[in-house]
Order: sequence, then C-alpha cells, then structure tokens
Amino acid sequence: MHVTGARPNFPKAAPVLEALRGRVNQVLVHTGQHYDDRLSRVFFDELGLPEPDIDLGAGSGSHAAQTAAVMVGLEEVFTRQRPDLVVVYGDINSTLAATLVAAKLLIPVAHVEAGLRSFDMTMPEEVNRRVTDQLSDLLLVTSADAVGHLAREGVPADRIHFTGNPMIDTLVKHLDRFDEAAARARHGLTGDYLVATLHRPANVDDPAAVARLVAMLHEVAGRMPVVIPLHPRGRAGLEAAGLSSSTGIVVCEPLPYSAFLGLVRGAAAVLTDSGGVQEEATVLGVPCLTMRPNTERPVTITHGTNRLVTVEGVPAALDQVLGAPAPVRPAPPERRPPLWDGAAGRRIAEVIITWLDSRTPVTLPKEPASQVVSG
Ligand code: UD1
Repeated sequence: MHVTGARPNFPKAAPVLEALRGRVNQVLVHTGQHYDDRLSRVFFDELGLPEPDIDLGAGSGSHAAQTAAVMVGLEEVFTRQRPDLVVVYGDINSTLAATLVAAKLLIPVAHVEAGLRSFDMTMPEEVNRRVTDQLSDLLLVTSADAVGHLAREGVPADRIHFTGNPMIDTLVKHLDRFDEAAARARHGLTGDYLVATLHRPANVDDPAAVARLVAMLHEVAGRMPVVIPLHPRGRAGLEAAGLSSSTGIVVCEPLPYSAFLGLVRGAAAVLTDSGGVQEEATVLGVPCLTMRPNTERPVTITHGTNRLVTVEGVPAALDQVLGAPAPVRPAPPERRPPLWDGAAGRRIAEVIITWLDSRTPVTLPKEPASQVVSG
C-alpha cells in the first residue's frame, strides 16, 4: 500500500508503482494533504499514476491537526486492509502520519528517500524524516551520505538499501517533454530569465523575511525577468509585501510538471527553497541558488549545480554563477550523482519483492477452515 499526500510525493511514487505493476497487488492511497488540482490532480494525469484507490481528503491544518487527520483516516484503512507493507515517500506530514499508524499496527514500512538530514530541527520535514526512519523496516536511500546518517543513528545495515533517486527516474523519462520554447512563449520571455520558487515557512511566513525576499526579487528582476510560479502557501504574504507581475516579474499559478521543468530547463538560473528543485536543477545542469542555511541534499552541491545563499546574497551569487562557465545541459550521466540514472524505481521494486519473498510465513490459526475469516 503506497501512501502519498503532496506534490513532491507524486514523481517519487510513479516509478515505484510502475516497476511493481503486475508483480504484486498494489493499493494507492492519497491522503489529500494537497487537494488543489494544480498541486495534485495534474500530476496524476501527467505522470500516469493510477487513480488513487482511496482518497482520505485530509486537507490542510496545523501540523498536529493535519497529521492527526491523516492518522485517523489511515488507521481505519490499514486495520481494514492489513497491507503486507506500507510504502511512504519523502518527508511530508503524511509520510510521518502513515509511518506512525503502521508501526503501531505492526505493519512494516518502506521509506523511499530515507536518511536525508539537514540537522535543522526548525524544519518540520527534519522531524518527519527522523521519526519515519527510526520506525521503518526498509530504508531506501537516494544518496550515499544518507547511508552514513542512518548508520550513525543505529539503523541496522541490513535495512538500508542504496537504490538511487526515483524522482530522477521521472525526470529522465519525461525529459523530451520539457520544452523551453513553449515555456518562453507561455510567459512572454525572449532573452535570459530566472525562475524562482518560494514556499518554506522560514522564507514566507515571517513578514520581515518576506519583505527581504520581495526586495531581492525586485533587484534581480532589474537584471533579467524572474518567473515565479507561486505555491499557495505564502501567496497572500508575498502579495501584501508587493510581489505581483510588474516590470521584470512574472507571477503565475503553480505549473504542471513538464511545464515547470521546461521553464527550469531554459532558465539562466533557479532561485529556490525547495528540496526537489535542487535535485532537478542538478540533473538538468541549471545553476541553482538555494535560499536556505542548510540542505539535506549535499550531493546537489558536491555533484551538482547547487549552492546555498542568503536572500541578501543572491544578487552577488548570481553575478558569480552567470559569469562562470555554464554547466552542460542536461548533466551527462557520468556527471550526475551516483544512481541518479533513471533505474531507481526498478531497484526499489527488487528490494521490496525480495523482502516480501523472504518474510517468515505467517502462521495461520489452528481452526477448522470454515472458521477462518478471509479478506
Ligand atoms: C508541504 C510539505 C513540504 C513540501 C511542500 C511541497 C509538510 C510539513 N510540508 O508543504 O515539505 O515541500 O508540501 O508543496 O508536509 N494549500 C492550498 N492548497 C493545497 C494545499 C495547501 O492552498 O492543495 C495551502 C493551505 O493554505 C495550507 C498551506 O498551503 O495551509 C500549507 O500546506 P501544507 O500541505 O500544510 O504544507 P506545504 O507548505 O504545502
């Protein structure tokens, strides 16, 4: 049973479901953490994900309210269906909720994208990752540094599998659809341009931080246009601080998967606070400035195009990045992080199938067959 809930889960889950298709019975649950069509439905349509078998409709709320709503919904589903394995993705609240419920019901958990650490407990995702990894039975890891983090936290080595990055499977599979020319036409762009994505609480929840961000965006927009597909979180605050489409700034709605990556592919650089965009920019070979004090994805710095910057430091960093030799686009396979090769979903499927096959057979109760309730 796969549990997904928010936009970044969908490109990670799609290759795993595809690789397991026909080999094992699969149930897809959508918790409904993200419910806007632009953050959810469009990804199912475009990535060829099956229609969710169960949609919990949990929706938004405080961390406790949202996590609790997902837990209550999943407890009912897991109790009724007793899956042999629950597969969770990434670090969102739905990931944590599913893991807690499964662990209490003694249902094994596989965590895709295990072991990433920012060591920054102000990020809700860091809490989600740490708890999820402690309770998971299969830890499916996207980069080598994650293996070390898990080992140091006492996770037994036989639970850890370095399978690579399934989100990059999705990127590689759809690469031909990332159409820069279409993106330029859609946003009225002729020369060089930047793409910016902003949604982290640290950047968009505090009015003083928002004001600094908007001032920086106006400054860089004086140099080249900045396209900003705006996540609903923080939209009101950013708009109140003066962010709107104006000279050099193009604010738009969240974009579908290929439209967004077509835009990124053609950009001179990306400014972001997202986790996934750091990885996507690395493989597309697009310079990425991450407006955060840390990253749980250091491989995007050591093997990729990413660097960490303060908001105030963006203009100077941009000067350096744009003045340096341009990376090859997309990054050739030998320059990508290890196992970011388009085959992670297949490796994850092998680990899961091997694990399912090797389980100790369940001992059935010694009762007459007629009394054994199935289903
Ligand atoms: C969540 C994840 C974050 C991930 C991001 C990707 C957690 C803790 N955070 O953050 O790791 O990077 O998704 O997008 O799980 N909203 C809508 N429509 C929606 C969903 C949300 O308008 O379909 C608005 C609501 O005002 C909501 C706010 O966005 O309160 C935050 O949504 P939520 O799912 O709680 O967290 P994200 O910021 O999206």
